[in-house]
Amino acid sequence: MNSTDIPFCPADFTQQLLAWYGKSGRDLPWRNTRDPYRIWLSEIMLQQTTVTAVIGYYQRFLKKIPTVEALAASPLEEVIDLWAGLGYYSRARNLHAAAKMVVQQHQGQFPDDAESLQQLPGVGRSTAGAISSLAFDRSAPILDGNVRRVLCRLFALQEPPRSTGADKQLWQWSEQLTPVDQVHDYTQAIMDLGAIICLPRKPLCDQCPVLELCQAHKLGIEQTLPLKAKTKKIPTRSEVALLINHHDRYLVRRRIATGFLGGMWEFPTIHLAADEDPMKKLSILLSDFSLNGAAEPVGNIQHIYSHFRLKSYAFRKKVEDFPQVSAGDNHWFSVDELKSIALHGAHKKVLQMLTGA
Ligand code: ADE
Repeated sequence: MNSTDIPFCPADFTQQLLAWYGKSGRDLPWRNTRDPYRIWLSEIMLQQTTVTAVIGYYQRFLKKIPTVEALAASPLEEVIDLWAGLGYYSRARNLHAAAKMVVQQHQGQFPDDAESLQQLPGVGRSTAGAISSLAFDRSAPILDGNVRRVLCRLFALQEPPRSTGADKQLWQWSEQLTPVDQVHDYTQAIMDLGAIICLPRKPLCDQCPVLELCQAHKLGIEQTLPLKAKTKKIPTRSEVALLINHHDRYLVRRRIATGFLGGMWEFPTIHLAADEDPMKKLSILLSDFSLNGAAEPVGNIQHIYSHFRLKSYAFRKKVEDFPQVSAGDNHWFSVDELKSIALHGAHKKVLQMLTGA
């Protein structure tokens, strides 16, 4: 099927979807506003994160930083700390950079069209469409994960939805379905359809407002779509991590704001090449803190980042005196504090292993 063969009238789809949304749509905190700052913030938080996880963060963030001007003027570290626990921290860094851009280049006013919005860091095509339609009621298509799934089923697309061909086709369908009027409600409605009816594993077809238009349902293949993509191979990097422990506290450092995992906290580490012995590297790391002797193994963890797998060999060294630490953003935190700061993902796992939680 190609884009010219939509097998139903898009206006029927919109009408059935909007009628359902009027009765069954969710009441979410970012839905009662047209303030582009609030909508943009919610869309960034909702990337790769569930509504339930986002609500508290969204409310706390707005209480502390209620405007784009306030965000542009905040230190990045404050933004990272407000993001602690939400994951995918590049979003927080991009958010901060984008706020500066809006203030400096757009006089504090968000642009209203998807193309200009896409120039902001962290705003891809779908997020730009969402902001443009939700805040400005402009007809702009979206294609987030939920909508991809809905369209794969609606049109019985039998290709992994992120393959190049499928991506182009899905965007065409999304454009063709997006109405000119009532686009604010349409965008919310198609998101809700994906989130509460057209579920990944067991879609609730008996409650679906557009069931009779669904090509996958007609063919009885809705449960097998979207097709899964083959998993990519990614390289492994290794490190030794040192948990220096003084009474109930541990030493962590903040990574520099620019670069990978910028602004996040971590235990001190040393890189481990493929053929190197972790114990040898551990003694080098200990000596960086003027420490020596044995350290107890905490365990090994693996964590997958977007483009590599990080293997961490973690050790704990108890100390009676605070060791000399070179200049930098070094802090001592209790385990409870470590649980609430933006410790990066791999070291969160190290902490879980340490505490058995
Ligand atoms: N996911 C992404 N954007 C959303 C929104 N505005 N409402 C609910 N879920 C979403």
